[in-house]
Amino acid sequence: MSDDLQPASSRPFVTTPAHVPALDIVILAAGESTRMRSQTPKVLHMLAGRPLIDYSLRLAEALSPSRPVVVVGRNADALMAQVGARARYVHQEQRLGTGHALLQARPALQGASQTVLVFYADMPLITQESMQALLALHHQNQAGGGVLTMLTFTSDSPRGFGRIVRSAAGDVLAIVEEAACTPEQLGITELNPGLYCYDADWLWRSLDEITLSPKGEYYLTDLVAIAVGQGRPVWAHHVDDASEMMGINTRVHLAEAEATLRERINRRWMEAGVTMIDPAATYIDDTVEIGPDTLLLPGVHLHGQSRIGAGCRIGPDTSVVDTIIGRGCRVQRAVLENSELEDHVDVGPFAHLRSGAYLATGVHMGNFGEVKNSRLGPGVKMGHFSYVGDAAIGQDVNISAGVITCNFDGSRKNQTIIGDHAFIGSDTMLVAPVTVGAGARTGAGSVVTRDV
Ligand code: UD1
Ligand code: CA
Repeated sequence: MSDDLQPASSRPFVTTPAHVPALDIVILAAGESTRMRSQTPKVLHMLAGRPLIDYSLRLAEALSPSRPVVVVGRNADALMAQVGARARYVHQEQRLGTGHALLQARPALQGASQTVLVFYADMPLITQESMQALLALHHQNQAGGGVLTMLTFTSDSPRGFGRIVRSAAGDVLAIVEEAACTPEQLGITELNPGLYCYDADWLWRSLDEITLSPKGEYYLTDLVAIAVGQGRPVWAHHVDDASEMMGINTRVHLAEAEATLRERINRRWMEAGVTMIDPAATYIDDTVEIGPDTLLLPGVHLHGQSRIGAGCRIGPDTSVVDTIIGRGCRVQRAVLENSELEDHVDVGPFAHLRSGAYLATGVHMGNFGEVKNSRLGPGVKMGHFSYVGDAAIGQDVNISAGVITCNFDGSRKNQTIIGDHAFIGSDTMLVAPVTVGAGARTGAGSVVTRDV
C-alpha cells in the first residue's frame, strides 16, 4: 500500500485557511511491542471499542486536513489493513530508534509543510486541547526563532520516561533517556511524553545530526539538545493531567487506560443527562450514543455502533451490540445484537435478540425469548419461552408461551408470515414456510404445517 504515498507537492491544502501554516503529522508505530506478548500489533488492541491507532488518527484528523503519515514496521500488513486510506504509510525496515523512524518520513514530507507534529501511536488518552496548546505555543516559539516545541508532564513514578533537563534559569536544555541518566537526573520528575512540534525545514535538515546512542538507536529526543546547541529556544507546554500522558506498553497499561477512558466517557454521558447507578460497573464504548433521561443500571455493556434513545431503562446485566433502541424502552438482563427497537419496547428479563431482529413500537418480549432476522409489528406480545426466526409478524399479534418457528429444514431457512391480530396458542410449532392469516387462531399444542 506504499503506492498510496503521493508526492508531497500533489497534496491539496485547499481546506487550510491561508493564515494557518500547513501542518503534517507523523505517527510513529513501527515498534515491536514485545511487552504485549501478542500476535496482534499493539496499536490494534481495542480500547473502549476502538483500536488504539484510531485514537491517534482521530487526533490527527482533527488537527490537520493533511492525511497523517504512519511509520510502520513488521506490523505493516495488519495495520494497513485496519487503517486503510485514512493514512499514508512509510516503512521502517530496521528498528533503529525513534529518530530513525521519523527519518523514514523525510522523502515523503520534505518541502511539503511549514510545521511537522510527531507523536507515538501508543498514547490514546492525550486530548485535542493539549495538542492545540502545543501548536499554539509552537507558533509563539517560532516567532522568536524557535524550531522545536514539546509537551511535558510531571509524575512521581517516572520509570521509563525520558527526563527533561532544564537550566538554572528554567530553560529546556535536553531530554535524557532513563538509561543514560546520572543518579541526579534520575530524580527529575518532569518527563517527556513524546509529542513534538517542529519547524519542518529545520527538522528534515537536523535529523542527520542525531548520532547513534550506546544502545544502538537513533533517539529522536536528541533533537532537543541539538536545537539548544544552535541557540534555538526549545519551549515546552506542561500538561497538568498526567493521565493523558499514559503510553501503553503492556496489558496492565491497557486496562489502566480503559479505566481512565471509561471514567471520561461515563462523565460525558452523565453531563449530557444519562443516569448511572454505578459508573464503575457501566461499560460504554467510545462509539455509542445515548439520549437524556436514560437510566443505565449496573452491568450494562453498550458496544459498537449502538444508539440508545431518551428515557430508556437499560439493565441490569445487559449487553447491547450494534443495536438501535428508540425512546422509552425497557431492557432487562438481555443480549441485543445487530437489532433495532422502536419506541416503548419492553424486552426481558433473559431475552436474546440476534442479528436482524426488529421490534416495532410497543412490542413486549418477555422472558426466555429469542428473535432472529424477524420483524415484530407494533404491539406484539411475546411473553414467554418462544423462538421467532425468519418471520414477519403483523400488528398486535399474541404469541403465547412456547411458540416456535421451525425455520430450518436441515438445509434451508424458511419464512413464517403471521397476519395482524392473529393469536398463536401455547406450544404451537410453525413449520416454515407457512402463513397464518390476519385474525386467525392456532390451538394450544398445534403443529402448523399448512397455511391457516
Ligand atoms: C520514548 C522516548 C522517551 C519518552 C517515551 C514516552 C525516545 C528515544 N524516547 O521512549 O523519551 O519518555 O517514549 O513514552 O524517543 N518506534 C518506531 N521505531 C523505532 C522505535 C520506536 O516506530 O525504531 C515507535 C514505537 O512504535 C512507539 C514509539 O516509537 O510508538 C516510542 O517507542 P518506544 O520504544 O516505546 O520508546 P520509549 O522507550 O518508550
Ligand atoms: Ca513507549
